[in-house]
Amino acid sequence: MPLFPIRSLLTATALATLTLPLAAQEAVQPENTNAIAANTSVQADRFMVAAANPIAAQIGYEVLDRGGTAADAAVAVQFALNLVEPQSSGIGGGAFLVYWDASTQALTTFDGREKAPMAATPEYWFGEDGTPVGWFDAVVGGRSVGVPGTLKLLETLHDRHGRSDWADLIEPTKALARGGFQVSERMSASIAGAKDRKLDAFPAARSYFFDKTGAPLKTGTLLRNPKFADALELIQRYGSKPFYEGRIAEDIVEAVQTPFNPGILTMADMAAYEVIERPAVCANYRDFEVCGMGPPSSGALTVGQILEILSRFDLPKMGPGVESAHLFAEAAKLAYADRGLYMADSDFVDMPEGLLNDAYLTGRAALINPSQAGGKASAGTPPWQEAMLRSPDTQLERPGTSHFSIVDAQGNIVSMTTTIETGFGSRVMTNGFLLNNELTDFSRAPEADGKPIANRVEGGKRPRSSMAPTIVLKDGQPVLAIGSPGGSRIINYVAKSVIAILDWEMDPQAALDMGHFVNRNGGTDIEAGSDAEELSAGLEAMGHEINVRDLNSGLHAIMITADGLIGAADPRREGVAMGD
Ligand code: DON
Repeated sequence: MPLFPIRSLLTATALATLTLPLAAQEAVQPENTNAIAANTSVQADRFMVAAANPIAAQIGYEVLDRGGTAADAAVAVQFALNLVEPQSSGIGGGAFLVYWDASTQALTTFDGREKAPMAATPEYWFGEDGTPVGWFDAVVGGRSVGVPGTLKLLETLHDRHGRSDWADLIEPTKALARGGFQVSERMSASIAGAKDRKLDAFPAARSYFFDKTGAPLKTGTLLRNPKFADALELIQRYGSKPFYEGRIAEDIVEAVQTPFNPGILTMADMAAYEVIERPAVCANYRDFEVCGMGPPSSGALTVGQILEILSRFDLPKMGPGVESAHLFAEAAKLAYADRGLYMADSDFVDMPEGLLNDAYLTGRAALINPSQAGGKASAGTPPWQEAMLRSPDTQLERPGTSHFSIVDAQGNIVSMTTTIETGFGSRVMTNGFLLNNELTDFSRAPEADGKPIANRVEGGKRPRSSMAPTIVLKDGQPVLAIGSPGGSRIINYVAKSVIAILDWEMDPQAALDMGHFVNRNGGTDIEAGSDAEELSAGLEAMGHEINVRDLNSGLHAIMITADGLIGAADPRREGVAMGD
């Protein structure tokens, strides 16, 4: 029997009547995982948006309500998030987007991942002593900044699938940037939390996020961002050109010349940036195809391995509980072991084709003892031998990202995960937006035991990601759009929620509310203060090393059913689902 209650559904109308910006602010949820907000699933007939901030969701809702496409709404939502959730994403960062085109009945993906400067070498992260620097020592400053991809991604998406005027999609955010918006509870808490983590290291972020006395901005402060409004005006008029080749590119190249950890980005690096359209990577899971982002993300392959391994066990019959959490953790260990050895930017590194091979995963599943935890898993040997020349990468990414899901009235779908890497990225700010620290998603060590690490830095390469924007199909038709922030835990959050919705037939909101259990090929993390704590004793008895901790996902899901759309927003953040 399900451990977790199925919540009742709320019609969308209540949320849809919110107006900008004050009413939207009232829907702000507590941001702390230990104070989980009670969201309810939202139902709609025609269209829906589920995003991490109510102002951004409202702006997306209005685009859809005016007949805009999912692509149009994605553009509007991303610009809004940049302003009202600046700690997590924006045009200074990168993103991956999975797109369902209702007219061609086809899935595709867009890779807007940041790129290393062309002059970067595998020793990029070596300190003066010739060894790799520590993670946080690498984060702050211009050196961690990769060429941003998000703006080019939005422009590409809009060119291909947009219908609304580009400038109109940016206008609401520009107006809020000029007129001011109220700092949300989560943004305020994030600023306070980052004060001791060098958010005030450089003047631009210091003067924007702190008041004149140096105190972090409080919830409800009216904040204006005229520099961002000016940049948006340029982008409204000239698209991405000023950002990649003009005045904003010059500002970025100058801004990364920080007094410590200066970067090496050039105008040529900026101008050479390209969004890459790539085929979706799909895993078979029972009657479903779970599709998402292939390399340079490890998302779809690792989510896919976990699910395909688990399809060898009867999870639907088991339901949520100790037995299924154990199998999930063991499957995740095996998948993360392969991720560490093999997965990186496949434009630079050959990767085995057999990572989702049926026979291979049958063999991997057979390694699981259903009643006893194994130790740390080793990578397998999919049919491709060169891989054995590599060493595993132990790099695990940290918090600072956002996911939104959108379905428009024509049935087009966007599932987009967008990031500046850690909260507030590199802390380097220009033109009112933060620049990413995505280059710390590379392995800082280029090799181990004399063997190269697949995810080492190389000039022009994209760092491996865990972002897993996902669209699930059944009989060739979309049934679910979902994704989450959470660094390398994203893979666990997404795989577990897919199981909860598809196998355990949980209402989407109940699935997102469910307490997390996570394994990244080590101990099993259990979400503090959640229902999952009930699993700890049983898992420990099976040999799991349990760590009870805060697990801050940001899942935003839309289920597509014969009776309409059902949306859900992660109670651990301040987002909402809105539709009509
Ligand atoms: O690309 C990645 O996998 C990471 N840079 C994402 C970081 C992240 O999700 C932070 N989330 N809260």
